[in-house]
Amino acid sequence: MLRRFARPLAAALLLQMTVPATAQEVLDTDPNTLAPSQDPKRTANGLAQTPPMGWNSWNKFACNVNEDVIRRTADAMASNGMKAAGYEYIVIDDCWHGARDANGFITEDRQRFPGGLKALGDYIHAKGLKFGIYSDAGTKTCGGRPGSQGHEYQDALQYARWGVDYLKYDWCSTGVRNAEEAYATMADALRATGRPILFSLCEWGHSRPWLWGAKIGNMWRTTGDITDKWEGKHGYSWGVASIVDMNEPLWPFAGLGHWNDPDMLEVGNGGLSDTEYRAHFSLWAMMAAPLIAGNDVAAMTPATRDILLNRDVIAVDQDPLGVQGHRVARDGPREVWVKPMADGGRALLFWNRGETPARIGADWTQLGLPATTRLRARDLWMHKDLGRLSRRYEAEVAPHGVAMIRLQP
Ligand code: GLA
Repeated sequence: MLRRFARPLAAALLLQMTVPATAQEVLDTDPNTLAPSQDPKRTANGLAQTPPMGWNSWNKFACNVNEDVIRRTADAMASNGMKAAGYEYIVIDDCWHGARDANGFITEDRQRFPGGLKALGDYIHAKGLKFGIYSDAGTKTCGGRPGSQGHEYQDALQYARWGVDYLKYDWCSTGVRNAEEAYATMADALRATGRPILFSLCEWGHSRPWLWGAKIGNMWRTTGDITDKWEGKHGYSWGVASIVDMNEPLWPFAGLGHWNDPDMLEVGNGGLSDTEYRAHFSLWAMMAAPLIAGNDVAAMTPATRDILLNRDVIAVDQDPLGVQGHRVARDGPREVWVKPMADGGRALLFWNRGETPARIGADWTQLGLPATTRLRARDLWMHKDLGRLSRRYEAEVAPHGVAMIRLQP
């Protein structure tokens, strides 16, 4: 009995041990035995050299998405400063789908999108913006619409015909499907269209996409869904602070062209205070996260607008060095975060997770800098230059709030 299992087990272990480690070994290996991400022919698509920016319909409109919502959003983004600040993609999330036609091609729901998605894509492009869409690696999307499993090349072709520039690819109804294989198949299908299409992996972190996603996609969800609450788990979703704790340790896996995605922004959706939304936005910027607004951008308050359009904070997110910032110190509710910047300086964040105001400080040595280095400092929320500083910086931080400083040589 024991022998019957011992041999396959030993063989399996041996197989695991012979996974190639170097590029040369990969090239010398039979391609049929390689994991999809190790295929030497598979390269990154070159897109998303900084974290993607845009808007997605899901957080605000869920399944109630239609042509009017998208047009209104495109009009708003082109004129309210968002486009100028770098928000580029307009992504229609779940529930745009109609049925497959007689040849298996996906169609749009004509009740919701009477003009069709080609015309809507043209409208978005005419505004100088880019067009994103949503599908799923399983038989059905999370909203019960047709998924792309078994139709990957057809769907990619249809998206390319519609002028799609971005695909978010979800993970519902996938059964026992292997995630790396499923996402690699769609990545190859997108590449085969010849159209540059940013690929956003929405697998919720279950199969650790940060370990294999870099050559397959441009961003990968690291968590379940975000919800417009401060912290904790709420059904299948998580509050902002809880999402941060799951995404933060993954900082070494982010880089140019492939980013950790802690999900879309809730800024402006009404569940949090403006102080909390400022913290949310600042933390996403420190984590070099995709900045995908999820509110009704055609009807936002001036406070929401000031958050989403804070160019100083956006510049931290979009810094060309592309290193994800992370927590360097934690003392009860007081946290210190640092993000190295391309100019040799640092973005510095103090986060007060507590219920009372707190004084938070950091020494230059915690930022990886000699204590005597003199740096120009700017407060990114007060929009105020603080002069040249050395050794240490301290600030008073409101409950659930942040102070965010940029230090430059
Ligand atoms: C999943 C995803 C969400 C959203 C919905 C749509 O829950 O994680 O971001 O796309 O599906 O049904």
